[in-house]
Amino acid sequence: MRTVATDDLQAGMMIAEDFRNLHGVAYLKAGTILTDRSIRQLQTMGVTQATICDGGENPTTPDTSGLQEHLTKTQRFAHAIVKEKLDAFCLDGLMNPVFLRGSLPRIIRKILDTEDDLIALTQILEHDEYTFRHSVGVAIISGFIGRLCHYSPKKLFPLVRGGFLHDIGKIDVPVEILNKPAKLSNEEFEIVQRHPVTGGERLLAARGENARTLSLMAVQHHQHIDGTGYPASQASEAINRLARVVAIADVYDALTSARSYKVAYKPHIAYRIMKKLSRGQFDERLLDLFFNNLVIFPVGSVLETSAGFAIVKAAPFGATVRPRICVFADDRYHMHDPFEIDLSKVPGVSVSSLLEDISLISLTSRLRLNPAELLENDYPEISSLDDLPNGKSA
Ligand SMILES: [Fe+2]
Repeated sequence: MRTVATDDLQAGMMIAEDFRNLHGVAYLKAGTILTDRSIRQLQTMGVTQATICDGGENPTTPDTSGLQEHLTKTQRFAHAIVKEKLDAFCLDGLMNPVFLRGSLPRIIRKILDTEDDLIALTQILEHDEYTFRHSVGVAIISGFIGRLCHYSPKKLFPLVRGGFLHDIGKIDVPVEILNKPAKLSNEEFEIVQRHPVTGGERLLAARGENARTLSLMAVQHHQHIDGTGYPASQASEAINRLARVVAIADVYDALTSARSYKVAYKPHIAYRIMKKLSRGQFDERLLDLFFNNLVIFPVGSVLETSAGFAIVKAAPFGATVRPRICVFADDRYHMHDPFEIDLSKVPGVSVSSLLEDISLISLTSRLRLNPAELLENDYPEISSLDDLPNGKSA
C-alpha cells in the first residue's frame, strides 16, 4: 500500500481503505477501482490524498453495511417527505392535481433509486435537515411547473434532479450560518453566496448524466432575470430555463416553510411577495403559469378589491389568481346588492388583499353579515368596468 496525492491518482488504481465522511458513511469502498469520475469526486469532496493497493495486495476488508444503511435511511426519509408534501399540495386542493400525478412520482422514485443521487442527498441530509426538506420541496414544485409546461419525461428528469441537488453547495456552508436566526454578517452572507458556485462545481465534477445542466441549475438558481442576484450579472436568455423554474420553486418553498425565525407564509402572501414585490426577479411567464395553477384565493375567502369587498365563488385551475367573486360592500363598508365579477374577464379590477383573522372578523361584525351565505345563490354578473357602481375600477 502507498499514499498518493489525490491529484496524482489515476484511473485503474485500487483504493485500499474506505473514504468516509464525519458520520462514518463510506462514499468509496476499499477495493474500488478508481475511474476518472471517482477521482474527480474525491477532489471535489476535498480529499487531498488516498491510500492505494500496490500489485498483489488485498484492500482492507470494508464493512459496507454502514453506507447502505445511511442510503436506505435517506431514501425512506425522502419518500416520507415527498408523500407529506404531495398530500399537502394535492389533498388540500392547493395545486392542480393533474400535474402532480403521472410521470412526476415515477421520476422522483427513479431518482431516489439511483445510488449517486442518494449519496449526494445523504450528504445534504447529514449536513442540515432543513436544506434536505427544502430540496425535496423544490424538486416537487419544479416538477409541477415542468408538468405545467408539458415537458417530456426526458426534460422533466434533469429538472427534478436539479431541484433535489440545486443547494448541494450548502454542504460547504457551516450549519451555524445556515440556521442562524439573526441577520447574517457581511462575511457570513458572502459565505452563503458561494453555495451556487461550489454546488455547480461539485455537480460538474461528478460527471454524471446531465452534469452540465445540473451544474448550471445550481449556479444560476439565485440569478435574477433582470441581471441582479448572484453569483454573476447574467440576465434573461443567459439564464438556463430549468434554472428559472428552480428559482421559482426555491423561493416559493422557502417562503411557505416555517423556520426558527419566521412563520410559514400562506400561498397568497408568497404570491404577493413573488409577483408584486420581486419584479424583475423571475421569469414572468413561468411565474404566472405556476400561480394560476395554485389556489391562492380559496373559495369562500374574502377579498378587498378595487370594486369593493367580495367573496370568492370559484377559482378554476388555470386562472386561480383571477377568481370569480361576488362583491357585497364598497370600500366605505356600505352594503349594496351583491353582484358577481369574473376577474379573468375584467382585468381592470385589482385584488388588494385577502382578509384574515382580525380584519375579517372586523368586517363581518361591522356589516353584520356572514359572506358565506352569498355562496348559496347566483347574482347578476358585471362584465365591464362601466357597469360598476360609482364607476369604480383599479
Ligand atoms: Fe440556494
